[in-house]
Amino acid sequence: MKKTKNKKDQAPQKPILTISKLHKRYNEGKPNEVHALQGVELTVRKGDMMAIMGSSGCGKTTLLNMIGHLDRRSSGEIIIDGVDTSTLSDGQMTAFRRDNIGFIFQLFNLFPFLTAVEDVETPLLLRGINSGLAREQAKMMLRELGMGDRLYHLPTELSGGQQQRVAVARALINQPAIILGDEPTGDLDSTTSSDIMDLFRRINKTNQQTLVLVTHNRWIAEKCDYIVHMTDGKISRIEDNPLAKEEKKR
Ligand SMILES: Nc1ncnc2c1ncn2[C@@H]1O[C@H](COP(=O)(O)OP(=O)(O)OP(=O)(O)O)[C@@H](O)[C@H]1O
Ligand SMILES: [Mg+2]
Repeated sequence: MKKTKNKKDQAPQKPILTISKLHKRYNEGKPNEVHALQGVELTVRKGDMMAIMGSSGCGKTTLLNMIGHLDRRSSGEIIIDGVDTSTLSDGQMTAFRRDNIGFIFQLFNLFPFLTAVEDVETPLLLRGINSGLAREQAKMMLRELGMGDRLYHLPTELSGGQQQRVAVARALINQPAIILGDEPTGDLDSTTSSDIMDLFRRINKTNQQTLVLVTHNRWIAEKCDYIVHMTDGKISRIEDNPLAKEEKKR
């Protein structure tokens, strides 16, 4: 494939996420200390769709938790959209996370007593959006995910794939700048996985939302612009995926 040296035809992409010298030690200073991240360096540009791969225990979930600020780093720097997150107070961080980051984890974590539409509208209500508007947007998002006939079902009344779609809809409804997925299509059948990956591609392309997806699945990874390989708490290699990038330009 021809390499383009002239980048003038490409939209300028600024980093949405910069990580440097990131370390995470669990049980720090104790005999059972684990050095899970050992100096991660990573720059992700706005609108990138990237996969993280690596063997079990290499630190993928730990890295996502650090990016999402669900857990404290031991040392290092994380800059999200120009904000050095170490400067934020806990309260500021909670608001920052709510407004900028969407999470999709393998365990769906749906609220057991909320219907699909109630679950998906929650992030909008938390942001103070009027309830009628929130309801309409939640319905639209669920319909887009093929859940139009399951709006008023509780999690127990939904299949695993349908529950995952609700979780995906909830993560996307706020249009967060960064979406973090830990095995976001987990154990789902290939049709549902494919639908969800298509949706990710679509929002990535149309809204320039950045996606960081941890996966063991090569097929999922190959839908992304590039694959970051991790080994023993470090990034060992970045594999470009020119085919996905070409597809995105179309
Ligand atoms: N809360 C914790 N306390 C102590 N050690 C932990 C904790 N969480 C993870 N670890 C350890 O940190 C290392 C990295 O774990 P992590 O969950 O990030 O791996 P992973 O790459 O996501 O693996 P998998 O593919 O199996 O999900 C592992 O050695 C793990 O045992
Ligand atoms: Mg993991």
